[in-house]
Amino acid sequence: MLLDLLLITVYSTGMKYLIANWKAQMTFPQVREWIAVFEDLIREDSDISYNLTTNNLAIIICPPSPFILYLQDQILGIPNLYIGAQDISHVEEGKYTGEVTTKALQGLISHSILGHSERRSEFGETEENIAKKITLCKKYAVEPILCVRDEKDTIFDGVKLVAYEPVSAIGTGQNMNPAEVVEIKKKFSLPAEVTFIYGGSADEKNCKEYIATGEIDGFLVGTASLEPQRFFNMAKTL
Ligand code: PGA
Repeated sequence: MLLDLLLITVYSTGMKYLIANWKAQMTFPQVREWIAVFEDLIREDSDISYNLTTNNLAIIICPPSPFILYLQDQILGIPNLYIGAQDISHVEEGKYTGEVTTKALQGLISHSILGHSERRSEFGETEENIAKKITLCKKYAVEPILCVRDEKDTIFDGVKLVAYEPVSAIGTGQNMNPAEVVEIKKKFSLPAEVTFIYGGSADEKNCKEYIATGEIDGFLVGTASLEPQRFFNMAKTL
């Protein structure tokens, strides 16, 4: 046991993150099918089970909000497999028809994506609101996954997980060259405690190259997360 722990310490390369962002692209029957397939793949794979158990890998699934509770039930007992939100409200509670608040989701989500470029460009997301959301995340024990489009977007204090997502690469099949991502990472001047991940047409074929740089510790994945086998194949490379 002690030897195992020592080996883990020596060979551990730090936690890698694989985050699924399904956006508004799944129905309940599809979600049921997806998680059944994915869970089987994970439970039967000794490498992934090992990496999850030893804190080398965290997998976070961010479904549309109505599916959060169902998915929570499905993943019970698998270490480092989490359910997150794709966004949360900037208000805490009150008479705000349609808002999904962190307070309502506390205990049901571990993480929330914040500041995704689709929220910024199509739903008027502001930096002021992102700051409010981060405060609410802290209050309700939710870990923010802050998306930034370039170095002009604010890296808020206390954020530990930053996803760099160049707009030109999102959903286009045109992923950014890993060397370029590493160059841009330098411009963010991130505090040491921040984990930097990449998003933008990352998939099971290109993900290894990013990890090989030693500077990119995971992925926020849209399109390639919609199929459980593809997403699982990405997890296999981490
Ligand atoms: P993509 O989406 O993987 O389809 O490019 C990524 C994202 O928008 O988070």
